[in-house]
Amino acid sequence: MNFDTIILGAGAAGLMCAAHCGGRVLLVDHAAAAGEKIRISGGGRCNFTNTGCEAGNFLSANPHFAKSALARYTPWDFVSLVSDHGIAWHEKTLGQLFCDGSARQIVAMLTGMVADAGAVLRLSTSVTGVEALPGGYRVVLETAGKVWTAEAASLVIATGGKSIPKMGATGFAYDIARQFGLEVTETRAGLVPFTFPEGRFADLSGVALPVRATAATGPGFPEALLFTHRGLSGPAVLQVSSYWREGEAVEVDLFPGDDALATLRAARAEAGRRGLARELATMLPARLADAVAAELALPGNLADMSDVVLAQVAERLHRWQVVPGGTEGYRTAEVTLGGVATDGLSSRTMEARAQPGLYFIGECVDVTGWLGGYNFQWAWASAMAAAEGL
Ligand code: FDA
Repeated sequence: MNFDTIILGAGAAGLMCAAHCGGRVLLVDHAAAAGEKIRISGGGRCNFTNTGCEAGNFLSANPHFAKSALARYTPWDFVSLVSDHGIAWHEKTLGQLFCDGSARQIVAMLTGMVADAGAVLRLSTSVTGVEALPGGYRVVLETAGKVWTAEAASLVIATGGKSIPKMGATGFAYDIARQFGLEVTETRAGLVPFTFPEGRFADLSGVALPVRATAATGPGFPEALLFTHRGLSGPAVLQVSSYWREGEAVEVDLFPGDDALATLRAARAEAGRRGLARELATMLPARLADAVAAELALPGNLADMSDVVLAQVAERLHRWQVVPGGTEGYRTAEVTLGGVATDGLSSRTMEARAQPGLYFIGECVDVTGWLGGYNFQWAWASAMAAAEGL
C-alpha cells in the first residue's frame, strides 16, 4: 500500500477530510482546480455554514442519520477555522454566514491545510477503476494520458452529486456504491428553479417579493420569490423545489405575515372608490398587482365588492396555487437529492457497514440540506466524521 487513505474528489468534503485525516493521503480530482463549487458558491462569497444548522434542515430517507456528525462538528467549529485563518465573515440573513471578501479565501484555506497536512493532491486525474484488495483498495488513475495505480487501506468517496455537469459533476459515487453492493436512493435535482410553459410569467420577469412558499409536503419557507422569463426562482422557490414532485401544486402566500382580508376591508371603508389593481399595488409589486387584478377580472371598485368577494381576493393572495411544469434540472440545481443510502453507512464514521475501509462523505450521501449554508456544513461535518474514523 503506497498510501493510508485515497480520497476521490477534491471538493468541499474531500479537501476537509484530506486536511484532517492524517497519515499518507492521496487526494484525486478530475477537474483542473480543487473546490470549484466552493469558488462559485454563494454568489462568489460562499455561504459556508448556517448558525441554526440541525438535522431538521436536511432531507434524507433517514432524518436521524445526520445528527451524529452534525453534533460533533458544529457551525461554530467551522467559524473558528475560518476566523483562525483571518477570513472576515458576516451573517447575511437567517443564520447564513458568508465571507466578506471572496469564496476563493475558503478554497485557499482548505488547499493550504491539505498541503500543510502533507497530502498529495493530483488534479486533472480521472479514475478509471476501483477494486478491493485484501486489506485495502487499488485505484486505477489516468493523468495526461498516463495510466497509474495507487493503493491504500482506506478509500473515501467525496465526488459529490450530479448538479452542474458542466463543472464536472458525475454520478461516480453512486456507481462505486453499487459496485460494492450499497443501495442508492432515487436522485433528483434539488434547490432548483421551476419552469413553466413558454411565456407564462414573461410579463412579470424580474418581479421579486417576500412570500411564504410550501410544497405539498415539507415546511413553508418565508423567503423571496423571483419571477423569471422561464418561470419561478428565488430562495423560497429553490427551497420548496427540494420537496416538490412532478404534477403537484406549490402554495404561495403572496402577502405573508399580514391579513389580506382585513387590509382590503379597511381600504374599502376608507377609499371605496379605489380600483382593486390600485389597492393591490399597495400590497404587492405593481406589475404583479396588475396581473392579479386582471386575472380576477372583478367588476367595479372596492365599494362594489362584498365581503365574500374580498375574501376571494384574499384567498388568491394568501393561497396562490401554482403547478410548475418542471424544474431546470441538474443544469442549474445547487444540489442532488438522494444518493448513497444511509442504511449502509455508519453515522459515526461514514464507513460502509459491509465494506470495511470504504467511506462516502458530502453530497453523494442521501443527506441534502436546505438553501443557506447547510450543504457545506454537511460536507464539513461528514468529512470530519470520516477523518476521525480513518
Ligand atoms: P463537490 O461537488 O464540492 O466536490 C466533488 C468533487 O469531485 C469535485 O471537485 C469534482 O470535480 C470531483 N469529481 C466528480 N466526479 C469525479 C470523478 N468521476 N473523478 C474524479 N473527481 C470527480 N452550499 C452551501 O452550503 N452554501 C452555498 O453558498 C452554496 N452555493 C452553491 C452554489 C452553486 C452554484 C452550487 C452548484 C452549489 C452550491 N452549494 C452551496 C452546494 C455545495 O456546493 C455542495 O453541496 C458541496 O460542494 C458538496 O460538497 P462535496 O465535496 O460533496 O461535492
